[in-house]
Amino acid sequence: MRIDIVTIFPEFFDVLDLSLLGKARQSGLIDLGVHNLRDSTIDRHHSVDDTPYGGGAGMVMKAEPWGAALDAILGSDAPAAAPAAQAEGGPILIFPSPAGDQFTQAMARELSLEQHLVFGCGRYEGIDQRVVDHYSQRGRVRLVSLGDYVLNGGEVAVMAMIEAIGRLIPGVVGNPASLVEESHEDGLLEYPSYTKPASWRGLEVPPVLLSGNHGAISTWRRQQQIERTERVRPDLLPRTI
Ligand code: ADE
Repeated sequence: MRIDIVTIFPEFFDVLDLSLLGKARQSGLIDLGVHNLRDSTIDRHHSVDDTPYGGGAGMVMKAEPWGAALDAILGSDAPAAAPAAQAEGGPILIFPSPAGDQFTQAMARELSLEQHLVFGCGRYEGIDQRVVDHYSQRGRVRLVSLGDYVLNGGEVAVMAMIEAIGRLIPGVVGNPASLVEESHEDGLLEYPSYTKPASWRGLEVPPVLLSGNHGAISTWRRQQQIERTERVRPDLLPRTI
């Protein structure tokens, strides 16, 4: 998968050299390009923001540098496409925004099947709306929210999305079985896990896990998932059981 990120803080993404995603980049499973938005400015001060039309607090990111940066990645002068053509393939441009669709495991799985993701990290009070409108007429654009809270910018949200999406690309996680039995994959939270020693500070591993009875272990784990989900995230239950 090719991933491009446009940001005014490219250093944020240095950590994508590490861990499983770093290995995935080395092995060519993920091809990452991080672009500094300021490189797409043409004024002496490399300004990326200005005051909002209509007044109000804060600054708004200017359309021109965004247009130049995104044209360099997506190709410029593309005419507005018919909706059917937009739906078919091509890169997906994602703007993290608290005003977007909620990011979920299902969305991560869907996006992990794409060939090319482009992330645009907004800062301040957001990006001039015409940037979203322009690229929405030419291809697939999504506003995606990490949750109902406000971050200072899109960078942290993009990091989280790339980690959630990247680990679902076949080959990125060494043992694919570990992807199956984790929270949200089957709509439930995951069961608790234990390792040696069997007794620690007076706390014992549940005996069923030491029994060697795989049927009983599966049943216990499923019960634990349901109980945990009922307790912590009852909102998830009606959709799954
Ligand atoms: N940018 C600012 N807040 C955000 C959020 N909650 N999700 C995604 N992007 C954001």
